[in-house]
Amino acid sequence: MPLARSLSMTSLSGLEDWDEEFDLEDAVLFEIAWEVANKVGGIYTVIQTKTRLTSEEWGENYFLVGPYMESNVRTQVELIEPLNPALKRTIDKMNSSGCKVYFGRWLIEGSPYVVLIDVAFTAWSLDRWKSELWESCGIGVPWFDREANDAVLFGFLTAWLLGEFAAQCEEPPHILAHFHEWLAGLGLMLCRQRRLPVATIFTTHATLLGRYLCAGNVDFYNNLINFNVDKEAGDRQIYHRYCLERAAARCAHVFTTVSQITAIEAEHLLKRKPDIVTPNGLNVKKFSAMHEFQNLHAQSKNRIQEFIRGHFYGHLDFNLDKCVFLFIAGRYEFSNKGADVFLEALARLNYLLRVNHSELTVIAFFIMPARTNNFNVETLKGQAVRKQLWDTAQTVKEKFGKKLYESLLVGQLPDVSKILDKEDFTMMKRAIFATQRQCQPPICTHNMLEDSSDPILNCLRRIGLFNSSADRVKVIFHPEFLSSTSPLLPMDYEEFVRGCHLGVFPSYYEPWGYTPAECTVMGIPSVSTNLSGFGCFMEEHIADPSAYGIYILDRRYRSVDESCNQLTSFLFQFCQQSRRQRIIQRNRTERLSDLLDWRYLGRYYVSARHMALAKAFPDTYYYESQDPTSKQGFRYPRPASVPPSPALSRHSSPHHSEAEDEDEERYDEDLEAEKDRLNIRQPFSLPYRNKSALPYVTPVSNGN
Ligand code: UDP
Ligand code: G6P
Ligand code: GLC
Repeated sequence: MPLARSLSMTSLSGLEDWDEEFDLEDAVLFEIAWEVANKVGGIYTVIQTKTRLTSEEWGENYFLVGPYMESNVRTQVELIEPLNPALKRTIDKMNSSGCKVYFGRWLIEGSPYVVLIDVAFTAWSLDRWKSELWESCGIGVPWFDREANDAVLFGFLTAWLLGEFAAQCEEPPHILAHFHEWLAGLGLMLCRQRRLPVATIFTTHATLLGRYLCAGNVDFYNNLINFNVDKEAGDRQIYHRYCLERAAARCAHVFTTVSQITAIEAEHLLKRKPDIVTPNGLNVKKFSAMHEFQNLHAQSKNRIQEFIRGHFYGHLDFNLDKCVFLFIAGRYEFSNKGADVFLEALARLNYLLRVNHSELTVIAFFIMPARTNNFNVETLKGQAVRKQLWDTAQTVKEKFGKKLYESLLVGQLPDVSKILDKEDFTMMKRAIFATQRQCQPPICTHNMLEDSSDPILNCLRRIGLFNSSADRVKVIFHPEFLSSTSPLLPMDYEEFVRGCHLGVFPSYYEPWGYTPAECTVMGIPSVSTNLSGFGCFMEEHIADPSAYGIYILDRRYRSVDESCNQLTSFLFQFCQQSRRQRIIQRNRTERLSDLLDWRYLGRYYVSARHMALAKAFPDTYYYESQDPTSKQGFRYPRPASVPPSPALSRHSSPHHSEAEDEDEERYDEDLEAEKDRLNIRQPFSLPYRNKSALPYVTPVSNGN
């Protein structure tokens, strides 16, 4: 047995070495993030979806570390005693020294162990730790920045946890700690500063400065090399946060980010080129019936239609069967997420549909959490009115049915004009009167706290989209994440996405962008941009993304006005598709899922971990970086046999030809053959056999 364990990933022989000689049994992985069991945005999705795969690889030696939040723990975590003796001693010791650290299982796929730290409980140490941070690193955190204060507490506590764990282990341990985002970054810095025996990885999911600069209307991508980063951070009063982020990136053994576009940004703004790009994956659900996702679309769409019936009561002058549902969702960053461009394109689409006398109605949902004080009365009333109509119809139907039955029993056809009595008519008239409405159907489902300065509402006021009868485009703003327990729209986000027709995410700043990726794996087409990690990834790997329902908006080389026009034309083209064409397109979109599966993308995380272990424990592990010249990507081809987009296919009616079906079948076969060739569906440890399947590994660079 060689002294060093091979972590080679570039050759078949390397893989065999690894299989035989390398095991992670005495290594322990801690993954640390503020969004562990704590939903804020996409980082939660990364951690929550990835754990199944990571648990499979690391088993009992995998621990997630996050903040303790009582409400989250009550609903998502089962508290238990730690089984690992060293970890139990660590937690007991910390708890007897004035901390509150909990241990449990996070009740998600893979049921990973979680260590949750109550940062508020240790707030008494904040000043002392801040002074230490200032004295050792020269980073001063102002008292009023609550988030940064939490980052300080979380950082010192996680470093304490890791240091104590190392001390409690009987054998010198091989600890690997993977920190996500600046909020967790201080723990990493302290591990390095205290020279703990810990291999460290820092993954940034965005740069602070990038997010701030983009939100401020700066021509970001053309000026990346010119920014005076310290000044820009100082001007935005985030210098201390920026320092924490940059220090974590610089101190890590391995630095990673989620896309090539953010890698370039990080190189300029954080002054370190990521060692490897770790794109975000999802757990792709495969149904035994191939087209089950289509049925799910129809079911969820029915539920959205029910909501629409209530929301537009008294103004249901459009055909629900000729309605398409578009949506944008995510954290409320108006221009970074492209809500501005979407609204403008909707106004233009409204005009186009009107002048073309289209029968179609577009309903655009905005799901972006803002400050509210609950649902507004008018929207709740809408659902109540709909329910009342439904109940009335049921009561009348029952009475009608009973009388009909009785009449048939005695061998007579009923006199239909008499079957309903006066009372029934009164009841129905009363229900109809209740649907009268003086006002337009509301735009917003909630009472907004900052109604007059809200960017979406202000933009709607400017472009004049008010849900009037003449509008072919209607807008519903739901300023809260969706939930299946909502009294208004009781659907969780996944069900909602399935019921829509198109996700629209025209982001300007989007390191990855889970929302369009989630659409793809559910077979729902989406719009993303060539400034988002996801959009670039798809553009790189698919010869003709729009043929698969992946519309990529050019926000890089076009002005805002031109991007709005391009989006308008995507939307208008989408609206011209027949039902059958939409069904074909959804099938095509769904076929891309394998590309986004953690089973495939998880390998980049494995690679980063191996790189870090080899750097931190060179006597025990080594890692052969890949020859950069062998860096080849792959591309899903556009089969020559079919038109690029279903909209251009021969038939626009629901009737279709056999030739069309054959085209689609051939299309299917070509794509499946390509997936096999690229090893896309192999379990994650196998594709190392295929050099070309690792297009994202870059040579080990400037780590420590
Ligand atoms: N999301 C959600 N409920 C909603 C709307 C969005 O859970 O009602 C989730 C969505 O599933 C996605 C995340 O919010 O995983 C947003 O992640 P993304 O990477 O798109 O953007 P981020 O907010 O991290 O910038
Ligand atoms: C799915 C269902 C079909 C339904 C269709 C509606 O494909 O399996 O039964 O007709 O969705 O599609 P649409 O794009 O009109 O919502
Ligand atoms: C960040 C980014 C988002 C990304 C997510 C997960 O919040 O804004 O684009 O998808 O992290 O990596």
